[in-house]
Amino acid sequence: MSKVSKVSNDPRDEIRNEDDDPNRRQFLSRVAMGACAAAAVGSGVVTLDFLEPKVLFEPPTRFKAGSPLDYPEGTVKFNKERRAYVVGGSSCVYALSAVCTHLGCITRFVPDENAISCPCHGSRFDTEGNVTHGPAPRPLPWIEIGTDEKGELVVDTAIVIPHGKVFRV
Ligand code: FES
Repeated sequence: MSKVSKVSNDPRDEIRNEDDDPNRRQFLSRVAMGACAAAAVGSGVVTLDFLEPKVLFEPPTRFKAGSPLDYPEGTVKFNKERRAYVVGGSSCVYALSAVCTHLGCITRFVPDENAISCPCHGSRFDTEGNVTHGPAPRPLPWIEIGTDEKGELVVDTAIVIPHGKVFRV
């Protein structure tokens, strides 16, 4: 006796047969689980990143600058880390910001010319911070200077004081 197989012409039978294939079902299930796992990990990472505080480290604005006696008249000391100058005047000491008022480059003192120069666009300042050559629109800010309990100079770059306000020695 010969075996006769029944062949269906109904396309729904073909779809039903593909859906019933255990390998295919297993594969699709794994792909779906993998996608869900990737989405869960991704959203977890984003959530943790969101919860993490976004605080930028900034160095302290106050720094010690030594004894007032270290600043005889005409002395200009540049503190690179704090971006400030401490200048000895006539029986006084004062401090200037070293940040150029044009676009914020860090200026440098040129001893031979007794001037402060900006390397970016050529602005120049005298040792009191006054603009002697543009394009800087304003003088260098004067910043607070005083002494601590031991008599050591303390400068605070965060406190701008009126131009010309010196610390008397
Ligand atoms: S930033 Fe100093 S001159 Fe432009």
